[in-house]
Amino acid sequence: MGKFSRTEQLLANHWRLGCKLLWNQEELVAGLSAFMQENHIESVVDVSGGNGFPAIELRRKGWDIAYNDYNAFMKEQVEAQIKENDDFVASMPCTQVSWEYLDSVIVPGSYDMVICRGNSLPYAVSWSVNQICDPEKAKVIIQKALAQFFKVLRPGGVLLVDKSSFESAGIYVIQKEGVVDSKECHIHWVFVNDVQSGIRRWDQYNTVEKETTCLTVYSLLITEKMLVDWLTTAGFISVCPTSIQGENIYTVLTARKPLGILPD
Ligand SMILES: C[S@@+](CC[C@H](N)C(=O)[O-])C[C@H]1O[C@@H](n2cnc3c(N)ncnc32)[C@H](O)[C@@H]1O
Repeated sequence: MGKFSRTEQLLANHWRLGCKLLWNQEELVAGLSAFMQENHIESVVDVSGGNGFPAIELRRKGWDIAYNDYNAFMKEQVEAQIKENDDFVASMPCTQVSWEYLDSVIVPGSYDMVICRGNSLPYAVSWSVNQICDPEKAKVIIQKALAQFFKVLRPGGVLLVDKSSFESAGIYVIQKEGVVDSKECHIHWVFVNDVQSGIRRWDQYNTVEKETTCLTVYSLLITEKMLVDWLTTAGFISVCPTSIQGENIYTVLTARKPLGILPD
């Protein structure tokens, strides 16, 4: 086996394809830019940067955005991609830490905005390792993560975090087809929400030019109430659902760090 497991590469590729089929990325980047302009944001960190969407596109538009992701495969792909761009994009700061250690690489109080999109929070302990999510461990890590997002924001700064909107449905299916990178593609994703165990199973069937690859990934089932409670406990105020142009699948929440909180 090479440096990265087959499953972690497959997951990165499956997610990249899904992102291209399910969202109009240009529109979403425009929506995020509009939100940032309205809120006078100057510096941003995307703490779950994934395949580089939307951080790279926002950087291309001139935003001072940094990238973080704990997955080495994701980060290496992004570093290779940004090298091919102009100096500003190529110099995007990229870090690789798990959320609960964010302040080991980011100075507290240094960003106007933290982005954590793509329904990333539920995978706090299960994205890289492809194992059944341990719900109790995930809850602790997610609450530590939110405390760290709070810490790296400047007073008055904004957190933008999104989540899947379908946790009340037992099983739901997302299907989409289209042409990506000149290839006929199709995704068939089945989500099974087990409210009893608090675990969400995601069965992925991705087809590219008639070749299908399958993968199952587990995550924590997070309700909006759980997330709002955790954000409030972390110290955030003005926690509310927010509409972002181009985000037609997930529920986006924004929250603010109160003014007058000094970095510790
Ligand atoms: C569903 S993907 C979303 C990626 C990207 N934000 C997007 O919108 O396409 C979730 C990402 O969160 C990252 N992630 C999950 N848990 C993490 C943690 N504890 N610390 C840092 N990154 C994490 C994963 O490595 C993965 O790249």
